[in-house]
Amino acid sequence: IGVIDSGVGGLTVAKQIMKLLPEETIYYIGDTARCPYGPRSRKEVREFTWQMAEALRDMGVKMLVIACNTATAVALHSLQKHMPFPVLGVINAGARAAIKKTKTHEIVVLATEGTVKSGAYEEAVLSLSTSSRVIPLACPTFVPLVESGEYRSDFATQLIAEGLEPLRDERFDTVILGCTHYPILQKQIEAAVGPNVTVLSSAEETAYDVDHYLTYNHELATNQAPQHKFFATGSVPIFRSIAEDWLELGELHIEKIQLPYKK
Ligand code: DGL
Repeated sequence: IGVIDSGVGGLTVAKQIMKLLPEETIYYIGDTARCPYGPRSRKEVREFTWQMAEALRDMGVKMLVIACNTATAVALHSLQKHMPFPVLGVINAGARAAIKKTKTHEIVVLATEGTVKSGAYEEAVLSLSTSSRVIPLACPTFVPLVESGEYRSDFATQLIAEGLEPLRDERFDTVILGCTHYPILQKQIEAAVGPNVTVLSSAEETAYDVDHYLTYNHELATNQAPQHKFFATGSVPIFRSIAEDWLELGELHIEKIQLPYKK
């Protein structure tokens, strides 16, 4: 299963897939050299996402998960149309998770500028429940915090509190972590919004989507030990320290990759 993201964020989705489907091998690409995608143009994000998908196509994956909301918002449909395997995104999964949980139907979406501008979450939530109200908030400082590996510092707690300040007068009972980097900051985000709010991500629902697809198509891996491989376009040591901390799988196979990829 191929999994792609602008950086380390998609590891939050990969972790859930590994938990649910422990015999599946994951090939993960993090475009850390060009992260963040959030402030980039749609055209650029689409081009970079295509480069990752093509690399994994050339490595022979059987399906692809775009574990990046910003990339899902701009590239899901074109990749679904043109890749020779199924392609799943994370936005519908995140919207579904929220609709299952919310009681008041007042839902905050924390995401990158790109995802917020795309309106993709409003569309996905409203397609499931027309009576819901979506309150989007771009949090441009969060991704650099995660990519720098500083996510457990006091500075992180302070920056998160500041980033969520615009929600002070809003009423809501559910927060969607609409960027796959944010579950790495989940504890601090939960502390900032208080105990009466459910904070959730798309990771679990996305893993269920992968499971459903593979089960339905009789393509589940069985009786094999996974041979995960991770590829980063930027620093391998920084990627390693975050990936090993987050996945808790011991030493990982990580390689540097250049995009566009040449076989
Ligand atoms: N992790 C990504 C997302 O889910 C993108 C973060 C970024 O590169 O700005 O949107």
